[in-house]
Amino acid sequence: MELKDFSKDVVSRVNAFMENYIKGFDDEAKTLKESMAYGLLLGGKRARPLLVYATGLALGQSMDKLDYPASAIECIHAYSLIHDDMPEMDNDSLRRGHETVHVKYSQTVALLAGDALQTLAFEILSDEKSGLSPKAVASLVRILSSKAGYSGMCGGQAIDLESEGQHIPLERLRVLHSKKTGALIRAAVLMGAVASENVSESELKALDEYAGFTGLAFQVWDDVLDVIGDTAVMGKTQGADISLDKSTYPSLMGLDKAKEFAFECAQKAIDALAGLNIDTTILKEFALFTVNRDH
Ligand code: IPE
Ligand code: IPE
Ligand code: MG
Ligand code: MG
Ligand code: MG
Repeated sequence: MELKDFSKDVVSRVNAFMENYIKGFDDEAKTLKESMAYGLLLGGKRARPLLVYATGLALGQSMDKLDYPASAIECIHAYSLIHDDMPEMDNDSLRRGHETVHVKYSQTVALLAGDALQTLAFEILSDEKSGLSPKAVASLVRILSSKAGYSGMCGGQAIDLESEGQHIPLERLRVLHSKKTGALIRAAVLMGAVASENVSESELKALDEYAGFTGLAFQVWDDVLDVIGDTAVMGKTQGADISLDKSTYPSLMGLDKAKEFAFECAQKAIDALAGLNIDTTILKEFALFTVNRDH
């Protein structure tokens, strides 16, 4: 199956699963519930769920069992976007083609929607209905929590904010990007692998290398789109990094070199899969997609 068709399937199945989960909540804190659904379900490419499904499926797991880790990581991602857009961070008013959560609701609600989506991730991941073994669930919790927290996304966000208006060395920017975005992309691939309950150490190593380069390519291209993208197509405001004087690949190396670097990373990601005896077609196509996308 091609990436395009696979992606369509992923979007509809993971959306249905997450929507169902939120629908199961009572209406005692209705605005919070609505804001969670708003931030989670309206738009988005579902790139991280796609990587969970593609990796897990390649290693022989069923889509049904992968729904849990796929939805869990999207909850973490949605929370990170809600907080990323708040005035204290990037102060954006447009996300996924809609008003950001703090603009639509309030800053208090956005803070809590992010908090509650973060815990929802682990509620879903530890749901016994997944049928995943307790050992796999424990590893999944460990991967997602560590890659989302200090050593991963949150750490990266902290470096991102303290690097505004500064000329940081390229090696530092690579650390920043590998943490703020790369870590969750790595988590997605590792979670798909671990949830397959059928992955060898050498496969895990190759997949992790693939994910590291893919994650870096993904964020470098996100930076590139801030320069060349179209607000209407991206569903977020073009030029946001430029106005905040963010440290990005185009700002540090120029647009053309940044594009070249993104292509190189995508190619290295593909190369990392060379020795594997599983069907990696979707993963390879995804690596190329990261650096050819317009949104
Ligand atoms: C945007 O992520 C923020 C980054 C970490 C680069 P995506 O480009 O995956 O955003 P959605 O989920 O499709 O909206
Ligand atoms: C976001 O990076 C990374 C997150 C952890 C959310 P950006 O700040 O570049 O993401 P966008 O461009 O707002 O989507
Ligand atoms: Mg940001
Ligand atoms: Mg941002
Ligand atoms: Mg960005």
